[in-house]
Amino acid sequence: MSSHGAALPMLSRKCKGLTGEAHVPGDKSISHRSLILGAMSVGETRITGLLEGQDVLDTGRAMRAFGAEVEDLGQGNWRVYGVGVGGFTEPDNVIDCGNSGTGVRLIMGAMATTDMTATFTGDASLNSRPMARVTDPLALFGARAYGRRGGRLPMTIVGAADAAPVQYTVPVPSAQVKSAVLLAALNARGESQVIEREATRDHTERMLAGFGATIETEETAEGRIIRLQGQPELKAQDITVPRDPSSAAFPVCAAIITEGSDVLVPNIGLNPTRAGLFTTLIEMGADLTYENLREEGGEPVADLRAKFSPNLKGIEVPPARAASMIDEYPVLSVVAAFAEGRTEMHGVKELRVKESDRIDAMAKGLRAAGVTVDEGEDWWAVEGRGHGNVTGGATVESRLDHRIAMSFLILGMASEQPMQVDDGGPIATSFPIFESLMGGLGAIIERV
Ligand code: S3P
Repeated sequence: MSSHGAALPMLSRKCKGLTGEAHVPGDKSISHRSLILGAMSVGETRITGLLEGQDVLDTGRAMRAFGAEVEDLGQGNWRVYGVGVGGFTEPDNVIDCGNSGTGVRLIMGAMATTDMTATFTGDASLNSRPMARVTDPLALFGARAYGRRGGRLPMTIVGAADAAPVQYTVPVPSAQVKSAVLLAALNARGESQVIEREATRDHTERMLAGFGATIETEETAEGRIIRLQGQPELKAQDITVPRDPSSAAFPVCAAIITEGSDVLVPNIGLNPTRAGLFTTLIEMGADLTYENLREEGGEPVADLRAKFSPNLKGIEVPPARAASMIDEYPVLSVVAAFAEGRTEMHGVKELRVKESDRIDAMAKGLRAAGVTVDEGEDWWAVEGRGHGNVTGGATVESRLDHRIAMSFLILGMASEQPMQVDDGGPIATSFPIFESLMGGLGAIIERV
């Protein structure tokens, strides 16, 4: 079922090959952070290339509810007039973050050290996801969380006035938890420390430094220690949002499995905390190259060229790589179905608490498409059938999960029979132009 209105069943059928350029939208993680940090800074932040997906729009609406001015200037250009660290005003109404775990967790952090109360909710997917991983560390600052659903939304957060700094080791590899703690630490007195044992995406740290916070990261044998000085005056910035490697994954993987394909996906950030999928595809024998490799805004960027790759082989994806490709396992499992041999993915239990249980959703759908999948709590494995042998011909549930819907539509581009998803509506949360962009490359996607 779709979160906003009626379900949107979609079907994708075998096509002749994907060719051309795929200009994917702005990065979702950086888009959320641009709006939130813009709202917490003083002055006018200008954002170019913002992802105008529903998740990010919901965060923009939330920032308005906390007192910031957020204005759509058209064509991906936005203006945020911030209220400064500690400057949020109490919202008049419940904050609905829709489908977005990133949105709600970061915003809870951002308001948790101000003297105010806010109530958060979301759609059925978001309201089933764990929030104690954020409210537990926020309690160390003195914030209190109330809810009646065992650490699930809806929840009310009573922020801490005059919060003391904290030292916190993040117990799960989660950039959302790390970021929630860092955003809360902004309005605490003195230095907070956040320690992560496994490196997760570091956009919050990089962007906080860009907005003028005093923040440093030390790599140690035990992990990364991030030190942030509280109560800085964040200064408004001009931000150009890079294109999203997690969205690039879809045209890249589609080209790799679809005979006759040659697709260029320009301007993709290759921040090592995000680029694990591309390394994995190359290890599997994919014809994927980085063209025009360069540095922009301190981050590696390249144009990705992906071509049909008939000789893919199954591999074991190392658990240490999981955080750098956590959102890409669903589409990787689709590529794995077209490889020769078994692809094993370990250290991935976080996949069970995403927009859906992504191991369960993909395993069920892949099996319905004729692919053998084994799974355990923290791992799964796909038995590749080789090119030309993936049956397809199934209707699968997208479970309010954009990446599940897109992954099965990609499968249908190269399977023998079409693939149908019961609801493509959630795709609009992160990749609203998916249908037209893939159609422009030659994909056949139909609304049914
Ligand atoms: C995100 C972090 C990841 C990722 C999500 C976006 C972020 O979640 O799955 O899509 O922007 O910080 P976790 O941090 O919970 O792993």
